[in-house]
Amino acid sequence: MATYDVIIIGSGPGGYVSAIRCAQLGLKTACVEGRETLGGTCLNVGCIPSKALLHASHMLHEAETNFAAMGLKGKSPSVDWKQMQAYKDGVIEQNTKGVEFLFKKNKIDWLKGWGSIPEPGKVKVGDDVHEAKNIVIATGSVSASLAGVEVDEKVVVTSTGALTLPKVPKKMVVIGAGVIGLEMGSVYARLGAEVHVIEFLDHVTPGMDAEISKTFQRTLKKQGFTFTLGAAVQKVEATKTKAKVTYKILKTEAEETVDADVVLVATGRKPFTDGLGLDALGVEMTDRGQVKVGDHWNTNIAGIYAIGDAIEGPMLAHKAEDEGIAVAETLAGQKGHVNYGVIPGVIYTSPEVASVGQTEEQLKAAGRAYKVGKFSFMGNGRAKANFAAEGFVKILADAETDRVLGAHMIGPMVGDLIHEICVGMEFGAAAEDIARTCHAHPTYSEAVREAALACGDGAIHA
Ligand code: NAI
Repeated sequence: MATYDVIIIGSGPGGYVSAIRCAQLGLKTACVEGRETLGGTCLNVGCIPSKALLHASHMLHEAETNFAAMGLKGKSPSVDWKQMQAYKDGVIEQNTKGVEFLFKKNKIDWLKGWGSIPEPGKVKVGDDVHEAKNIVIATGSVSASLAGVEVDEKVVVTSTGALTLPKVPKKMVVIGAGVIGLEMGSVYARLGAEVHVIEFLDHVTPGMDAEISKTFQRTLKKQGFTFTLGAAVQKVEATKTKAKVTYKILKTEAEETVDADVVLVATGRKPFTDGLGLDALGVEMTDRGQVKVGDHWNTNIAGIYAIGDAIEGPMLAHKAEDEGIAVAETLAGQKGHVNYGVIPGVIYTSPEVASVGQTEEQLKAAGRAYKVGKFSFMGNGRAKANFAAEGFVKILADAETDRVLGAHMIGPMVGDLIHEICVGMEFGAAAEDIARTCHAHPTYSEAVREAALACGDGAIHA
C-alpha cells in the first residue's frame, strides 16, 4: 500500500477542497469517500440540488407573478416534476464529476469505500490499510433525529428525501424554521404546496438579526406560508401516504394536531463520525458529539486533524472549505488561518437573506456602542425595475471608529452582495470606506453603499 502525506476522510466541500490544496502544496494526498460520487452532502443531497430546485421554482414564481406586468403575455409554465428532477440530477452530476476531474488533475487518489482509523497513521478502507503521515477527518454531518418522529424518507422526510419526493405534495408540514425548513418550504410553496412551519422558538431563523428575522417571516407569510411559533412537535404518526403531526403550544400547553401529505423534519444536523473508530483511539469529543480540535484543527491525537461539520462552529460548506485550506497549509508547514468573525450566512430563498459579523442583539449584549445604517431596496432603481424592491440592507458600525462590525440583508441577490462587506471587514474597513467606493449604477450593490452612507451623513435615495 502507498504511504501518503495526507489522507482525508470525506469528500464534501471541506474534504475535497482540503485534498486539492494539499496536492497543490506538494503533499501526496488521498481522499476516502464511500458514496458513489464525490462532493459529500453538499453536492449530492444538499446545497447544490436544493439550489437547482430553488432556481426552477423561483422562475415559475416570476412567470406567475411578474411576467404579465412586464408585457410578457401567455400562460405561465406548468410544472413537469419529472423534468425538474432530471434537471436537478444533471446539475448534481456536473458538479460531482467536476470534483472527480479536479482529483485526477491534481493526482489525488480516491480511496473508494468507508474509512476508519485503526491506529494513528493508518486508514482502513475495505480490506486495505493505507499509511498516512497525517489524517484529516472531514466526515460532515447528518440530520439530527427528533424524539417521537420516525423518518421514512417518503412521507416523513429529512432534507435528503425532500429533494426527491415522488410528486409535489398538497400539504407540507415543516418542523423547524431554520435554513433547511425555509429553503425547502419555499421550493414547495412556489410549486403549489400549502406549507405550514412549526417552530419551537418565537421567531424564525435562530441566531439571525431580529429585524431581518421578522421581515423574513412576514415576507414568507405573504408568499403563503403558515407559521406556528413557540410550539414543540411531540410526535408524528404516519401511514404510507399521510401523516398527523402533534405539537404543544408552549405558552398554553395546549396540544394541537395538523395533517400533512409530507412532513419535513428540519430540526438541525449533528456531526457524523460513526464507524471511524474515534472512541477506541481516544479522540476527545465535545459534549455535543463534535470532534474537539485545537487552534490548528488538531485533535488530541498527534497526526489526526478534523474540520467542517464534524467540529464546532456553523455547519456551513464554506466554513468547512476555509478550514480545509487552512489545515492543508498547516500540514505543508505554512500558517493556516480562518477568520471565524467573518463567515457569511446565506438563505437562498427569494428574497435572499444574508448576514455576516455581529447582530444588533449581540452588540447590545456586549454593551458595544454602535450605529446603524439602513437602506431599503425601494430606493434602488434596479430592484424596482426587476420587481425585487422588497427588503433592505443594514450595516452596523462602531459608533466611534466607524469600523464595520456586521451587516444583515434581505433582498435580491444579497447572498452575493454580502461579500462586499466580508472583504471590507477582512480589511478592517470603516463604513465610510464602503460609502466612498464608487458603485456602478444601476446595480443592487448600490443599496450596500447607501446603507454605508446612512452610517454617516445619510443615504442619498432615502
Ligand atoms: P437549524 O438549526 O438552522 O434550524 C432548526 C430549527 O428547528 C430551529 O429553529 C429549532 O428551534 C427548531 N426545532 C428544533 N426542535 C423542534 C421541535 N421539536 N419542534 C419545533 N421546532 C423545533 O437546522 P436546519 O435548518 O435543519 O439546518 C441544519 C444545518 O444545515 C444548519 O447548521 C444550517 O446552517 C445548515 N444549512 C445551511 C444552508 C445554507 O447555508 N443556505 C442550507 C441548508 C442547511
